[in-house]
Amino acid sequence: MLLTEIDHVAIAVHDLDAAVAFYELAFGATVEHREVVESDGVQEALLKVADSYIQLTAATHDESPIAKYLAKRGEGIHHVGYRVDNCAAAIEAMVAAGATPIDKAPRPGSRGTTVAFIHPKGAFGTLIELVQE
Ligand code: CO
Repeated sequence: MLLTEIDHVAIAVHDLDAAVAFYELAFGATVEHREVVESDGVQEALLKVADSYIQLTAATHDESPIAKYLAKRGEGIHHVGYRVDNCAAAIEAMVAAGATPIDKAPRPGSRGTTVAFIHPKGAFGTLIELVQE
C-alpha cells in the first residue's frame, strides 16, 4: 500500500479569509500554516485535523488554475492530497495503473513537501496530488 495518510482535502474558495473565519467559527479550527505559492498562483491556509489537513485554496491572480476552476465550476472540493513515502514511485505506480500525470516528475509543493499532480481524466474524475513530506 503506497498511501500512508490522507494528507489534505483541498477546497477552492473565492475569499480565503472568509473561508478561514468560517472554519474557525464552525469548528474552532486553527490555521497551522499559510502560504502563497506564486508559481501555482495560489494562496492557501492549512487547518490541521489529526494528521491531515483541510486546505483552503484561493487564487492570487485571474490567470491561475484556481481562478479558472472557480470561474468554471464555482467553489468546492478541488483535489485530494494523498500522502506517500516516495512521490516518484507513486507517479510510476499511477502511470502503470493507466493514470496520466500532470507532473511527470516530483516537484516542490507547499509546506516544504514534494508533490505531483495526477489528471482527473484517468483517475475516476478526481484531481489527485501525491504528497511526500
Ligand atoms: Co494540494
